[in-house]
Amino acid sequence: MNRTRRLRTTGGIRSLVRENLLKVDDLIYPIFIEEGKGIKKEIESMPGIFRFSLDILPEELNTIQELGIRAVILFGIPDSKDEIGSETWNDQGIIQKSIRFIKKHYPEIYVITDVCFCEYTSHGHCGIIHNNDVDNDATLKNLSKQAISHARAGADMVAPSGMMDGMIRTLRESLDKEGFYQLPIMSYAVKYSSSYYGPFRDAADSAPSFGDRRTYQMDPANRREAFREADFDKEEGADILMVKPALSYLDIIRDLRNNYNIPIACYNVSGEYAMIKAAGEKGWIDEQKVMMESLLSMKRAGADLIITYFAKEVARLLREQH
Ligand code: PBG
Ligand code: ZN
Repeated sequence: MNRTRRLRTTGGIRSLVRENLLKVDDLIYPIFIEEGKGIKKEIESMPGIFRFSLDILPEELNTIQELGIRAVILFGIPDSKDEIGSETWNDQGIIQKSIRFIKKHYPEIYVITDVCFCEYTSHGHCGIIHNNDVDNDATLKNLSKQAISHARAGADMVAPSGMMDGMIRTLRESLDKEGFYQLPIMSYAVKYSSSYYGPFRDAADSAPSFGDRRTYQMDPANRREAFREADFDKEEGADILMVKPALSYLDIIRDLRNNYNIPIACYNVSGEYAMIKAAGEKGWIDEQKVMMESLLSMKRAGADLIITYFAKEVARLLREQH
């Protein structure tokens, strides 16, 4: 008789046949940095996640380093916004200052930057507005300026998240031209127009003041379209393809894993974090176990890298288990 239970009888055999493993090395931790001084403000809908000003950031960076987390992705909250988000390519901007600070004092931390405009535009959209919609090609020009400015400040990787057509080609060409041919691009290639971004928009002050992002982000109903997005970005030179959000899109992560031979990342977004935190606080679920189970499902679906607000908690938990 077939007895699949034979290989489940003890912890020893279960770990010998375990197919997937979550490691701290898989994780990228998002950090929100706000212009100003003395700021450490918890984000209401994301318990345990804070906005920091640069002077207080070492507190967070020390913890990250101590826990063995190797990579961060930076989001900036600037002092001033305008119609086009020109602060994004200011060499004295919050992100540029933060990159220089981290690379100087914490050179081993791998610094990825989110390259977009929504935190920097007065209207909250991911580019320049013409006729009530984001103008794709006008936005591309400014995207290059932003990425080059991040690269000059010392970023290790750039991650364009605005879902503009041609953004990877444009960035690859302009980065190469400036000599940054070794700088990898992680594309938010398959980013859905999702309601799971709600808490992030509070965290980063980036909610659109009119309309929504459905003219540039993907329709949650679509699967085949994900291949078109991924095809274009890979062909244009993306080094890593990302799927976002993660939990409701595990099928898409698997699709990309099966069809591309470059690393696949996923973004375990703010709403996914908030739901587990909220249910955990109420005592309705075992928060830590559900956290580990959902992150493991992303690995099982085929993700190599996971961007997650849970990174510190996972690192602590994995350390206790050893
Ligand atoms: C900005 C951006 C968003 C997220 C990452 N980069 C939000 C959006 O598209 O509105 C979402 C992250 C999260 O929800 O955790 N382009
Ligand atoms: Zn954006």
